[in-house]
Amino acid sequence: MPIAAIQDILDGKYAGKPVSVRGWIYRKRESKKTIFLVVRDASGIIQCTVKTDNPSWTQAEKITIESSVMITGTVKQDKRASGGYEITVEKLSIIGLAETFPITQDKSEEFLRDVRHLWLRSRRMSLIMRVRSEVLRFTHEFFRKEGFIEVSPPMFISSACEGGSTLFGLKYFGKDLYLTQSAQLYLEALIYSLEKVYCVAPSFRAEKSRTIRHLTEYWHIEPEWAFADMDDLMRVEEDLLSYICQKTAEDCKREIESLGADISKLKVVNTPFPRITYTEAIEKLTAKGFKIKWGEDFGYDDEKALAEEFGKPFFVYAYPRQIKAFYCKTHRDNPDLVMSTDMLVPRIGEISTGGAREDDKEELLRRIRELDLREEDYKWYIDLRRYGTVPHVGFGLGLERLLTWMLDLENIIDAIPFPRTTRRFYP
Ligand code: 4AD
Ligand code: MG
Repeated sequence: MPIAAIQDILDGKYAGKPVSVRGWIYRKRESKKTIFLVVRDASGIIQCTVKTDNPSWTQAEKITIESSVMITGTVKQDKRASGGYEITVEKLSIIGLAETFPITQDKSEEFLRDVRHLWLRSRRMSLIMRVRSEVLRFTHEFFRKEGFIEVSPPMFISSACEGGSTLFGLKYFGKDLYLTQSAQLYLEALIYSLEKVYCVAPSFRAEKSRTIRHLTEYWHIEPEWAFADMDDLMRVEEDLLSYICQKTAEDCKREIESLGADISKLKVVNTPFPRITYTEAIEKLTAKGFKIKWGEDFGYDDEKALAEEFGKPFFVYAYPRQIKAFYCKTHRDNPDLVMSTDMLVPRIGEISTGGAREDDKEELLRRIRELDLREEDYKWYIDLRRYGTVPHVGFGLGLERLLTWMLDLENIIDAIPFPRTTRRFYP
């Protein structure tokens, strides 16, 4: 007999028919004459009933929560059953009998983090992981559709992209290397042959901050392309975001509703996004009574206050040179400003940073010296301006920050299966 996916049974495809299902025991309840087993597989949960006169009764009596099973029976439509269908069991085979499962209701958040390898079986985590997979699919779909070529950057690197303070160092056959913070510099090298490239890869940040939006290892969506300016950049970025949000609202409706997240917030993500300059953002904050001065970087509270006003994703652009990285292109008519833009969303603040890259060799060298970086560390990168330099742009979008916003997650750690933070690297 073919193995049925539980969701297909709930969708009515097997009404009155014999089926086999495979999965794990999710709940168990006994009465004198019947044992009710709720079985879950990757697609859903269904109630299965075993009667006393069934030869499988002793198996059913002995079975424990989270045991793996194979069940054969007949699908019965039943209005009282949650989901509208249940299975009358004919045969129950235990594949792996579970020891007493440590997760019960009323366990603390901290405990659930310690047993993350088991908590991933929860309905909530599996719904999030499904949406995560879909968001990745939409990301790849979008970039392919736009003619971007997927590339694979290195994880071991020899010089920083985003400044020394968040670099993870490691010994590499006696030499000092680091874990990558961003694929950007490598993507820049690849545009000279492929023009439009992107990657989805891990980035690492030795981030001491313990906030709801920081991981030490996260997944980074990064495109980079040639012959483009700031307008092109923001257009592609808002197109990507609205594509992801619209597709997720359409294709993951069930998951989003089950998670209790606000789907309407995704549906209203349409282009063009609001855009304000850094200077306008400072004026808004000053008007709200914030103490921040022109030239200072936004803190989390500043970002949240700005984002509250828009209630949806928006861009801040044209930042002071002193708070942005060495590779940012300076405005030719105002060298105090760089062509950099952040995308902000409510509650989370920044979800992406991007911009035009300094494409003039002398300007780039000036920035490297100004920031006291070692020129020899960036020799290959400077080469890119030596041989056929072109105006180019790119951005980096944090997948988990995006999901935290999209799914109204309380903390970024739930957007990734095995979160790494300052304190958390087990399991
Ligand atoms: O703003 P960041 O540091 O920018 C870059 O790395 C650029 N080189 C990207 C590029 O232009 N290709 O990081 C980009 C994004 C942030 O906006 C945020 O969404 C995410 O990466 N991010 C983090 N996400 C989770 N935990 C952390 N510690 C993060 N640090 C950055
Ligand atoms: Mg940033």
